[in-house]
Formats: sequence, structure tokens, C-alpha cells
Amino acid sequence: MSMHASVADRHVAYSIPEDVLAGLTASQKSIPSKYFYDAEGSRLFEAICELPEYYVTRTETALLGQVAEDIAAFVPQDATLVEFGSGSSTKTRLLLDAAPQIRRYVPIDNCRDAVEHAAQMLRERYPRLAVSPLVHDFTQPVRLPAAAARSPVVGFIPGSTIGNFSPDEAVEFLRNARAVLGPGSKFAVGADLAKPAEVLIPAYADDQGVTAAFNKNVLTRLNREFGADFDLESFEHLSVWNSVASRIEMHLVSRRQQRVEIGGWVLEFEPGETIHTENSYKHDPAAFADLAERARWRVAASYLNPSPAFGIFLLAS
Ligand code: AVJ
Repeated sequence: MSMHASVADRHVAYSIPEDVLAGLTASQKSIPSKYFYDAEGSRLFEAICELPEYYVTRTETALLGQVAEDIAAFVPQDATLVEFGSGSSTKTRLLLDAAPQIRRYVPIDNCRDAVEHAAQMLRERYPRLAVSPLVHDFTQPVRLPAAAARSPVVGFIPGSTIGNFSPDEAVEFLRNARAVLGPGSKFAVGADLAKPAEVLIPAYADDQGVTAAFNKNVLTRLNREFGADFDLESFEHLSVWNSVASRIEMHLVSRRQQRVEIGGWVLEFEPGETIHTENSYKHDPAAFADLAERARWRVAASYLNPSPAFGIFLLAS
């Protein structure tokens, strides 16, 4: 137990996930970034994707539009496309349009509403495509539907979702994904690349304050779901570029000395103390290839947008 946390003497009515408690009671407080994505968080993230400062979505979508035909050449006949953290499945359409040989689509996402809504939309638009959604934490091992496991499999993780993982976590994820996708599979991975801090910082600290609202929403969620009493006015959004680790970090900074209760714990905050809420790693193409190789993938093709720098890597197992 850290010196800044103690057990309050009251009845505990909520069961707080282990990872939330561990993060909030550590000396550098943190909340796993997957907790951003409740309904409001997912809505705010979609709004972030439209911001002028947030180049990630626009850049990847344009690049994918340019290279979808090249990627399609790697997709075998009657393939199954498996997407990790599929959300609204917007970019998927670019691949489905370029590769009509895809017979089945398996979106994997924790959010039942998002994944079912996306599945319905795709069934209407691609009547010959079999859509078999899996409501599942995409970082955890999962068994593909039997029909999918019998067909050639292509994985897809766009959006620089992989950027939320540290290098070691990314290797672990890529290894897991290799086991899920199976021998002979391919994997298309979109990863944001390192670029000047003058471009990165505004992308994570926009003028309209949408990213700030997205960041703070995780406290609203902890208040609602776990009975915490975070005062939102007492925390400030902060994004910093950590050039040593090559990552954007998002934090919530305590504006004052304060106490917060959650699940029978009392958290003490000093003025300026932060809760670390997200890492967004910005890769280098050569270093990314090393990560892939550590997970026993080989980079069969790389598609790089020079500026803003962004990469789509086609991995082969
Ligand atoms: C969805 C993890 C790729 O890191 O750019 C956007 C999330 N956080 N603005 C990213 C995010 C703040 C996003 N990823």
C-alpha cells in the first residue's frame, strides 16, 4: 500500500476492478486507458477523430485508401478478416471494397453495442459477407468461430490502437494475435510514427477541449460505476511528449491538495500530482519491425506516409 492511500472505515458496496485499484494506489497513480471507452468516451473519441489537430484518423484513412489494392493482393480467396478493437469498423470498408475475396468478417470489441451496430451496418452493405462479431477484450486470447478457423485468416488492427501498448506489451499482443490468427496468417497493423512535438502535442491537447473532456470522462465513469467522488473541476488535462520513451502521455493533474474516495479507499493528492491515463507510443519503422520479429512475424510490406508520418505494416507469420 502506498503512503497516499488508506482504507476508509465504511461499507464497500462496489467491486472495483483489480487493475483500477492497483493503478490508483501506486506511487505514480494511473488508470488503464481501456476505461476511456464507455458510451460517452466512445462518442468523444469519435469526435476527436474529426478534430483538425488530430491527424491520425485522416492520415491513416487516406493512406489505406491509397494502398488497399496492394494489401488486397496479400488476401487469399475466401479469407476471414479478423479486426482487433473494431469499434465502428469505419476503415474496414476500405479493405472490404478492395478485397471482395473476403468471405467472413470477425470484429472483436469489448463494447457490445458498438460491435453489433457495426456488424448490422456491414451486413446491409455487404450482403455476401458473413459477419460474426465477438464481444471480447481483444488483448485476451480468443477462439475464432470454427468456419473462420478453417479459412485463410487476415488480421487487422488500424487506428494506431497498438500505440497504447509499451514495446513489451506490443510484442505480447502480437504474439497473442499470432496464436489467434493461426499459422500462415497475415496481419495489417496501422501504427502512428514519431514526428515533431509541435504536431504531436496539439493532436492530444486540442483547442476545443474535446481531448480534455475525453480524458476527464474516465473520472466521471469511476464516479458512476464504482461510486468514487472525483471532483472534475479539481483536475486538469495534460498531454506531454516523452521523447525518451517516444510516447505522448496523457495525465489528469490535481489542481489542489485533495482527497478522493473509491471503493473504501482514500486517495490523497498533492497539488500538481497526476493520474497517468494513457500512453500513445509513436513508432519508428525499423524499431516496429523489430517488435514484430520478436513476436515471430515478418514484415512483408510497409506503407509509409511521410508527413504526417504514419505506417501500415503488412505482417506475415
Ligand atoms: C485510439 C489509442 C489510437 O492514442 O491516438 C486519442 C486514443 N487518446 N486522443 C491515440 C486517443 C487521445 C488514440 N488511440
